Amino acid sequence: MNEQSNASVGTSPYVSVRWQGDTLGQLELLDQTLLPESLQMVPIQSVEQAHEAIVSLQVRGAPAIGIAAAYAVLVGMQSLVRRRAPIDESVQQARALCDYLATSRPTAVNLFWALDRMRRIIDRNSNVATAVELANQLLREARQIHDEDRRMCHAIGEFGASLFEHGSGILTHCNTGGLATSEFGTALAAILTAHYQGKQIHVYADETRPLLQGARLTMWELQQHRVPSTLICDSMAAQVMREGKVQYVIVGADRITARGDTANKIGTYGLAVLAKHHQIPFFVAAPSSTFDLSIVHGADIPIEQRKPEEITCAFGKRTAPESIQVYNPAFDVTPSELISAIITELGIIHPVDEDRVRRVLSK
Ligand code: MRU
Repeated sequence: MNEQSNASVGTSPYVSVRWQGDTLGQLELLDQTLLPESLQMVPIQSVEQAHEAIVSLQVRGAPAIGIAAAYAVLVGMQSLVRRRAPIDESVQQARALCDYLATSRPTAVNLFWALDRMRRIIDRNSNVATAVELANQLLREARQIHDEDRRMCHAIGEFGASLFEHGSGILTHCNTGGLATSEFGTALAAILTAHYQGKQIHVYADETRPLLQGARLTMWELQQHRVPSTLICDSMAAQVMREGKVQYVIVGADRITARGDTANKIGTYGLAVLAKHHQIPFFVAAPSSTFDLSIVHGADIPIEQRKPEEITCAFGKRTAPESIQVYNPAFDVTPSELISAIITELGIIHPVDEDRVRRVLSK
């Protein structure tokens, strides 16, 4: 381990994405595939390496992917900056970098949102003199995307915590903390804020099959913040609810449509159905950068299909026979009817319908 400490409110002792220096500086990603055993920042030397880091989940979580991709454009520009390439070539290359990074993962809209912002900067600066000037503007935008996410996470934390009563049990799925964002998180920010407010909550974290983001990452983050918490297998959620251990479910999101239908880690939809049966409020927490108002219905959200090996032999151990059929969608869609409220940095959307989604997001 090259970094380790326990967290406190306000600042985070670990970051998922870091840029050091000016346009010729260094992008570093916390390699989330190594957690919880090892906390290692990996230097990203090429745009291909950044692309692979997103595909392989070294960096993951909707907001963190967007931030990493924005900085990755800079990584791809560095050879142009070094040789002070002509602006036409630089603009063409910068656009190609955005297009390439956009092919890494299809569901989390934050990736496309961040790259669109970078594209707008490229368009606006296509008449500047040099690659250096263009890169300066792109770095400024990437830093802004990163800073805005910090502010959004802390605001979501405040709004979200206000929904939890003292002494409640809260179930969460996947990982939505500082690892998945700039810092602090979305759904996990609400949990952490409630914890630091002294609300004496207890968290139940689904392990989140197949890649165990809940077990490996959420439990690690909860431990860093010393939040009382219990790990459960995904299939235990119904029983935990029936036993009255859980008063709220809160999850993050990868893409939310105009009517509030929400794509999130596979298993989220099932939790929402269970929560309805047990009359438990089901909350989604996400920044405005996770909304895709160009889509109304959840059925139109592209769902990433991942390799069968993630189910048959994840983490190097074969757990199913070879040459079998496997279905491995990374996400599912929860219809807005099952969502009690969506917590954003702009306020709480409740009840969840198209009119209220558009109203809150236009603030
Ligand atoms: O495949 P992953 O680990 O990137 O999936 C992440 C999730 O589903 C998170 O819940 C979502 O991105 C919200 S992160 C604040």
